[in-house]
Amino acid sequence: MKIAFVGAGRLGQTLAAAFFEAGWAVTGVASRSAGSSDLLAKAAGAGCTVYRHPQEAVDAADLVFLTVPDDAIQSLASGLRWRQGQSVVHCSGATEVSVLAQAQEQGAQIGGFHPLQLFADPVLALPRVAGSSVAIEACEALLPTLTQLAESVGYRPITLPPGVRGRYHAATNYSASFLLSLLREACDLWNAFGVDDKTALAALLPLAHGTLDAAEARGLAGALSGPISRGDAGVVRRHVTDLAATSADAVEFYRTMARRQILLAKENGRLSPDDIARVEASLG
Ligand SMILES: NC(=O)c1ccc[n+]([C@@H]2O[C@H](COP(=O)([O-])OP(=O)(O)OC[C@H]3O[C@@H](n4cnc5c(N)ncnc54)[C@H](OP(=O)(O)O)[C@@H]3O)[C@@H](O)[C@H]2O)c1
Repeated sequence: MKIAFVGAGRLGQTLAAAFFEAGWAVTGVASRSAGSSDLLAKAAGAGCTVYRHPQEAVDAADLVFLTVPDDAIQSLASGLRWRQGQSVVHCSGATEVSVLAQAQEQGAQIGGFHPLQLFADPVLALPRVAGSSVAIEACEALLPTLTQLAESVGYRPITLPPGVRGRYHAATNYSASFLLSLLREACDLWNAFGVDDKTALAALLPLAHGTLDAAEARGLAGALSGPISRGDAGVVRRHVTDLAATSADAVEFYRTMARRQILLAKENGRLSPDDIARVEASLG
């Protein structure tokens, strides 16, 4: 199977290198600039040809990865000629696979291959491929090929049904950049009484790591700790009172998080219905 990449940025370069290292034939690349294409070709071994036009890369390949910015996927795919038996996938999390419909109408199999990983720098990203997950959406004929490709580089494949990408991708934010927003909120509260970000993060990040380790070992409800998990309604009331004196926004944010945590406490099953009711009441 000849694999080509159109778009030779951070993700394209990393995937091309991973596929090459796993023994796949990455045979072509085309990008906007020759410099990016050359970098991908270097990572993908001697058999990778740099094409000036994406159509040349597509014509010479069996499976084409469109690793361009999300906004460019549909217009790029629609402007290219596709053939029966060929496959084309994009790597976006949020963009529906149906943006490749014109390629499908011409006989190509279409799909999505979204790695759940950050690709800030290809050199740093490559060793993290193995052990990460990839969300695959594809027709029945293409699914086994993409699954095999994923497993060969150490990705754990998960299968996405069509039409769920908005929810799917929004949810990934909760385990990635939204964690930063939580830590920002915590640092802001400490900044207000003179603790700078560096000192705050040095104290808070070990708590965060410990929580994630516990979630990995015991599941989400099993890892729950803190006043809500103990039914300590007095402590929760104190939090609410002090945050309300800080700002309406801070106390509302706390209440939203606390209500979600009460759901986890119910799932955990350690608290009685009376304990839960007292904690709920303490939120005001
Ligand atoms: N980065 C991540 O962490 C990450 C994670 C998961 C999924 N993804 C997905 O992966 C895809 C690519 O993201 P990325 O981070 O690799 O982006 P990127 O680093 O900006 O790379 C995009 C590449 O596409 C090239 N390009 C742009 N428009 C083009 C066009 N019309 N024709 C041909 N090439 C074109 C760019 O040109 P040049 O040749 O000028 O460089 C660049 O090399 C996106 O769909 C993104 O959602 C990214």
